[in-house]
Amino acid sequence: MAAALPISGLTAWQALFDHAHLTTGQTVLIHGAAGGVGTIAIQLAREVGAHVIGTGRADDRDLALSLGARAFVDLDADDLRDVGEVDVVLDVIGGEILRRSTELVRPGGTLVTIATPPTVQPKDGRAIFFVVEPDRVRLADLADRVRTGRLKPIVSAVRPLSEAASAFVRQRRTPGKTIIQVAQEQGMPHPTTEG
Ligand SMILES: NC(=O)c1ccc[n+]([C@@H]2O[C@H](COP(=O)([O-])OP(=O)(O)OC[C@H]3O[C@@H](n4cnc5c(N)ncnc54)[C@H](OP(=O)(O)O)[C@@H]3O)[C@@H](O)[C@H]2O)c1
Repeated sequence: MAAALPISGLTAWQALFDHAHLTTGQTVLIHGAAGGVGTIAIQLAREVGAHVIGTGRADDRDLALSLGARAFVDLDADDLRDVGEVDVVLDVIGGEILRRSTELVRPGGTLVTIATPPTVQPKDGRAIFFVVEPDRVRLADLADRVRTGRLKPIVSAVRPLSEAASAFVRQRRTPGKTIIQVAQEQGMPHPTTEG
C-alpha cells in the first residue's frame, strides 16, 4: 500500500496545506474524489477538520463519502453551482470543470489545480498551479499515518511488472491507484511504483 503514496500523497498534502493553507472549519471542494490524489486529499482534509465536498462520476459517490466527504457532486448530473461558496477548490481535472470552479471560490479563497496552469482565476481569490516536489520528511509522515490507520491508500489492483504496459491502458475505470509489483521479497509483495 505504501507504493500508492509518494506522488498522490505528496501532491494532495502540498495542494491542500502548502498552497491552499486549508485549516479547520473551512470548506474544500475536491474534484476527482475517487482518483489517486482525490482519495488521499479527502482523508487529509477531513482529518484537519475541514468540511469536504467530493466530486466525480456517479459511481464514485459511495467511496468519496466513505473516506470522509460530507457531500458529493456528480459532475455529469448535478449542478456544481449548488455547492455554494467554498474556501478551497482542489482541481485535478482542468478544462471546463476548472473554469466553472473559479466561481465557487469565496473572496480570499484559493483554487489549486494540478491538471494544467489555469487561464482563469477567482474574482477575489488566488489560482495556483504547481508540480509536486519530493519531500522525504512529509513522505515519512504520510507512511506513518498509513501504518497507524489514520490514512488509507485506495489500491484497486496490484499487477506484475510483465503486465505494466497493459495496466496503464485503461480497460475499465478503477478507483485509487494501480500498483505495479516489480519484486518479490521473502514471500511478501514489494510494490515499488504507482500508476
Ligand atoms: N501537477 C502535479 O504535480 C501532479 C501530481 C499528480 C498528478 N497530476 C495530474 O493530476 C491528474 C489527476 O491525478 P490522479 O492520480 O488523481 O488521477 P486519477 O486517479 O485518474 O483521478 C482522476 C479522477 O477524476 C475523475 N475525472 C476526470 N475527469 C472527470 C470528469 N470530466 N468528470 C468527472 N470525473 C472526472 C476520474 O474519473 P474517470 O476515471 O471516470 O475519468 C478520476 O476518478 C492527472 O492528470 C495527473 O497527471 C499532477
